[in-house]
Amino acid sequence: MQLNNLGKSGFTVSALGFGAMSLSGKDEEADLELIRTAYAEGVCYFDTADLYARGESEVLLGKGIKAFRKEIILATKVGNVWNKTGDGWGWDVSRGYINQAVDASLKRLQTDYLDLYQLHGGTIADNFDEVIDTFERLKESGKIRAYGLSSIRPNVFAYYAKAAKISSNMMQYSLLDTRPEEYLDFLKSQEVGVIARGVLAQGLLINKPATAYVGLDIEAVQAIQRKVESSARAYGVSSSAIALAYVLRNTAVCSALVGARTTAQFNQLIQAYKEMERLQTAELDGIGVQLRYEQHR
Ligand SMILES: NC(=O)c1ccc[n+]([C@@H]2O[C@H](COP(=O)([O-])OP(=O)(O)OC[C@H]3O[C@@H](n4cnc5c(N)ncnc54)[C@H](OP(=O)(O)O)[C@@H]3O)[C@@H](O)[C@H]2O)c1
Repeated sequence: MQLNNLGKSGFTVSALGFGAMSLSGKDEEADLELIRTAYAEGVCYFDTADLYARGESEVLLGKGIKAFRKEIILATKVGNVWNKTGDGWGWDVSRGYINQAVDASLKRLQTDYLDLYQLHGGTIADNFDEVIDTFERLKESGKIRAYGLSSIRPNVFAYYAKAAKISSNMMQYSLLDTRPEEYLDFLKSQEVGVIARGVLAQGLLINKPATAYVGLDIEAVQAIQRKVESSARAYGVSSSAIALAYVLRNTAVCSALVGARTTAQFNQLIQAYKEMERLQTAELDGIGVQLRYEQHR
């Protein structure tokens, strides 16, 4: 599998990344097999967050990657804090909170370092300087190797990209959500690697019935689904291959993070990744609709 430099981190990530949010934990052995399969197929970039399943996603991923921990790039996220009633979460990126949260994530993941530590969002009201300084000190301490964001707010990610040493920004990006395209060249120029999530649009770009998605109504989603299917037929590939190729053809994108729930789904995506070789990606231009971020600019 192709490896790409992750911004200025100094390390590479696999073109397909493994997102641990879809692990349910209901059948632990099946989840562990899925993680092992991803690694065996050449995926070396694994993403989770302390928020997912209240930390259980980190616990499961930590178990799954233990045998090959040093061979992979392990990423998690910080900033969301469950409230006392447990029915929602707030936002805390103070130095004290991040320092406590990183230790908790390391423990759950059974490791003594994170390759990539990401702010799980962010607002214009955050104390950017304190966040940057906290991450820099964590780097010096060896607890993290690089840091980044997962943000779709231009006024937040543009600030960090210009001012800080962030290596990455995770963004929802697909044929059904083209909003990041306005910023891809800028992020690349700042050596910020883009990690695309939602590349399958939760399955809408594979086989799910159309629903409204981001700024697109149901008819617009159906129209894009029809174009994806017709391109897939023309090239003799699956719809998933079209979805993956659309984001990976842009060199600002370092990895397409996919959320497979089962090993069978993952194997289909690996097959789709291989099918991409048959595609002339320049001809995917007319499929999506150009959208832009309307808020937080
Ligand atoms: N703000 C953030 O930082 C943030 C937010 C969301 C996600 N993420 C990260 O991104 C990762 C990916 O999540 P995503 O939201 O981007 O999901 P996604 O990859 O767009 O969609 C995942 C869903 O697609 C369906 N799917 C996957 N493979 C399939 C296949 N071969 N055939 C048919 N359907 C298939 C499954 O739906 P079914 O379960 O219905 O079968 C699966 O749950 C997460 O695990 C997480 O690490 C980060």
